[in-house]
Amino acid sequence: MLDTLVRHLYMVRLTAAACLLLMVGCTGLIDGGDNGGLTPEEAKARAAWVQQALPRLNAACSSCHGGAREMINFIQQPATDNEIRETLLAYQPAVVNLDAPSSSRLLTKGLHEGPPLSTDDASALLDWIQKERDAAQSLPEGPGIVVVETAQFNPQYCSGGLPGNPEGTCPINFVTLDSLGATGAKISFVAQALGSGLYLTNLKLVPGTSGVFLKHPLFVSYPATGTPVPDSIDRFFNITMNLKDDQVAIEAQQIGGGTAAFVGFGAGPADKLAIHFKEIGLFKPDDGPPPPAGNICKVVGQWATQPKTNLTTTPGGLGQSCLSCHGGQNNNATSALAMNLADDQSNCNQFLQRINKQDRNNSGSFLAVAPGNNNHPVRFATQAQFDAWKAGFNGWIDAEVAAP
Ligand code: HEC
Ligand code: HEC
Repeated sequence: MLDTLVRHLYMVRLTAAACLLLMVGCTGLIDGGDNGGLTPEEAKARAAWVQQALPRLNAACSSCHGGAREMINFIQQPATDNEIRETLLAYQPAVVNLDAPSSSRLLTKGLHEGPPLSTDDASALLDWIQKERDAAQSLPEGPGIVVVETAQFNPQYCSGGLPGNPEGTCPINFVTLDSLGATGAKISFVAQALGSGLYLTNLKLVPGTSGVFLKHPLFVSYPATGTPVPDSIDRFFNITMNLKDDQVAIEAQQIGGGTAAFVGFGAGPADKLAIHFKEIGLFKPDDGPPPPAGNICKVVGQWATQPKTNLTTTPGGLGQSCLSCHGGQNNNATSALAMNLADDQSNCNQFLQRINKQDRNNSGSFLAVAPGNNNHPVRFATQAQFDAWKAGFNGWIDAEVAAP
């Protein structure tokens, strides 16, 4: 999610620099028929967008996603063709996934209030997204997408009993990560065959003596026959784990919620699995710059009183608690706004990202559930109930604003 944004910003910066350097007339950002500063891969992606992807999206999807509806305007218009493209690539929660093009939500959404994509449209859009991935990789110093993958392996299945039992009916699988630079580290899980696919439980990362760092694990099924199938919802796209090597015994840690049901994955004796990573290696003592200060809650103690209760209990006029969907039960909800993080600090940071301190009524965290917002699955029945719920955040926001 952040990666797409970073990459997007990088591409914009790169192009702006090219305009200055080459003194070419760059109106808008990267429009233009010739390659004006673009790598050949970028030019191909741009052509696929204008000729193939955009016309299809406009015909099938823009009536709702073209700007008319506030929370789903990922094909936002009016704008130049390229501005529309940039908005779509940077849209949050992400609808285009350059790391695993075929798992992009744009392609996997299917029938909803809008129609499913036709097979023809889906394959044209996939082609465009693959070209965008190639383009992102072609950028000279950009955060190119280097995907590393474990060897393919046949998981052993649990047919009953407790994991790791002496009878051997429920083996624990260990995938070693040595060859990927994370010496001694393993991913462990218990696998069960489901009618609809593969079900993993006890999914954990086990560090070696030098710790382990990983980013964005993606499970891919290599069925005995047919083409590989990536996790269609790319559920671990925002997972980064950095387990330390200290003298104390290092504990294994759950990946995501520790379970995952992969629909459409092969789960027979001849079906293989592999795990891709955006990045993997040993523990990183300094894992990049800290997030911007604006997103860090300073008064977590205050967060843990009324605001937290507002999310974990059912407020009047809503019918269910925010946590009942955003706590991991609903993947779309949790990837848009996670409320099931390890501690109050992390949960508070998530929520604060969408708080507009200058104009709190215009905060994304609130607007999602405003009466009449039909783009979110649930909303308050009346304005009065919505206002009463929002008021519960005031003391905390005041304290965040006042905190040094
Ligand atoms: C009649 C209106 C309508 C049309 C047409 C429509 N959609 Fe949607 N779409 C919605 C609504 C409403 C939502 C939000 C609720 C939901 O997620 O189902 C949505 C959500 C989505 C999302 C999730 C967005 C996010 O940020 O989470 C995707 C992806 C999507 N639509 C894809 C498409 C595609 C692709 C098309 C064209 C084939 C399309 N839609 C056409 C109404 C529409
Ligand atoms: C019935 C399940 C459900 C409940 C209950 C629920 N949400 Fe959501 N929420 C979702 C889903 C699903 C999405 C993602 C929509 C999408 O991307 O299609 C979402 C998205 C969001 C977003 C992100 C919107 C954006 O544009 O990025 C916010 C903010 C949000 N919800 C806030 C809340 C709050 C606050 C509550 C409680 C008052 C709440 N939600 C209750 C299902 C739920």
